[in-house]
Amino acid sequence: MDIHIAVLPGDGIGVEVVDAAMRVLYAVGDKFKHVIHAEFADVGWAAIDKHGTALPASTREICRRNQAILFGAVGLPERDKTLPQKDRPERVALLELRKGLFANLRHILLPPGLAGRCPLKMELIKSGIDIMIIRELTGGLYYGQPQRISGTAPHRQAVDTLPYSEPEINRILKIGFETARRRRRRLTSVDKANILATSQLWRELATAMGRQYPDIQLEHIYVDNASMQLLRRPSDFDVMVMENTFGDILSDEASMLAGSIGLVPSASLGEPDGSGKSAVPFYEPIHGSAPDIAGQNKANPVATILTVAMMLNYTFGLSQEASAIEKAAFKVLNAGKTLTGDLGGQATCSEVTAAIIAAL
Ligand SMILES: NC(=O)c1ccc[n+]([C@@H]2O[C@H](COP(=O)([O-])OP(=O)(O)OC[C@H]3O[C@@H](n4cnc5c(N)ncnc54)[C@H](O)[C@@H]3O)[C@@H](O)[C@H]2O)c1
Repeated sequence: MDIHIAVLPGDGIGVEVVDAAMRVLYAVGDKFKHVIHAEFADVGWAAIDKHGTALPASTREICRRNQAILFGAVGLPERDKTLPQKDRPERVALLELRKGLFANLRHILLPPGLAGRCPLKMELIKSGIDIMIIRELTGGLYYGQPQRISGTAPHRQAVDTLPYSEPEINRILKIGFETARRRRRRLTSVDKANILATSQLWRELATAMGRQYPDIQLEHIYVDNASMQLLRRPSDFDVMVMENTFGDILSDEASMLAGSIGLVPSASLGEPDGSGKSAVPFYEPIHGSAPDIAGQNKANPVATILTVAMMLNYTFGLSQEASAIEKAAFKVLNAGKTLTGDLGGQATCSEVTAAIIAAL
């Protein structure tokens, strides 16, 4: 298969971890006989310094004409401060490139060998943690209108609105069911159906869609309970799907269950809208540019390497290749010999990458 991707390393450790992930991608390409066509482009401060803007037209064009975007990180706090909020790299680049992508997937993985890195007690972790959190990204409370503060102090009033339409709910639920089908076939739908109208509609639609997926075990759970169960029985969860605000909170909570922020990959996906046009899927580690360790070969490359696995799986349908990367990364992490500093080891980013390629 020919694989066409836009590669945007960005700032700080973005450069190092994307380089590591590309090495793994080329190794997988060799092993499985795929041809990787990568077009590199500037983003973030790397782009401001050369082109005067964090997201130049040339970068947009490269993203537009490829099948997926592999992104490192943007932003450098000391330099960000010199710009108004609206012109900062994270805002300019991420908002634009993620436009139209309504599903955000975070893969929370804790290999058993790293159980000691998790803040939970060993007996709660059992055989490790492997959860895919799917968050609706473009609707709900953050975008609903009206949203305003009115009146005069001390009697001001504030209002936020939480709207969701059937199509918006159905398209994210579908991603939930389809993702569960590629994994352990368990889907947890998170809502607050005892109180919120949007959640009542959500639960009704989830139940109806569940009938089209008889092979998927569907569980409904209230969001407050979900936040507890994530800490009580994290090994039981497979795929969890939820609306925007619940997802914002639970995905951050769940990220803490992985051994380090340097292990968590993510994907933002849309779907063809019928006109054939759809935003280009966007893949990135959840961490930032980590200026404190940038340029020192200390960054953990695993999140970005697992990001490449998600890309192969979700955009290119190459589940065997994705699984080969995950297994190789797991092997290295479980062996515990070649770990970066964030996991208590002393290995460099390059050494971890080489070990994962060797394990492939
Ligand atoms: N998507 C993005 O591009 C994105 C996301 C978050 C933050 N940022 C930007 O990155 C800059 C730094 O932000 P921050 O310090 O709040 O968050 P950060 O994620 O960059 O770093 C937080 C801490 O985690 C460590 N860390 C992060 N990734 C690591 C890895 N792969 N291996 C080992 N350790 C790792 C860092 O050393 C640091 O101590 C800011 O300018 C911020 O705006 C960008």
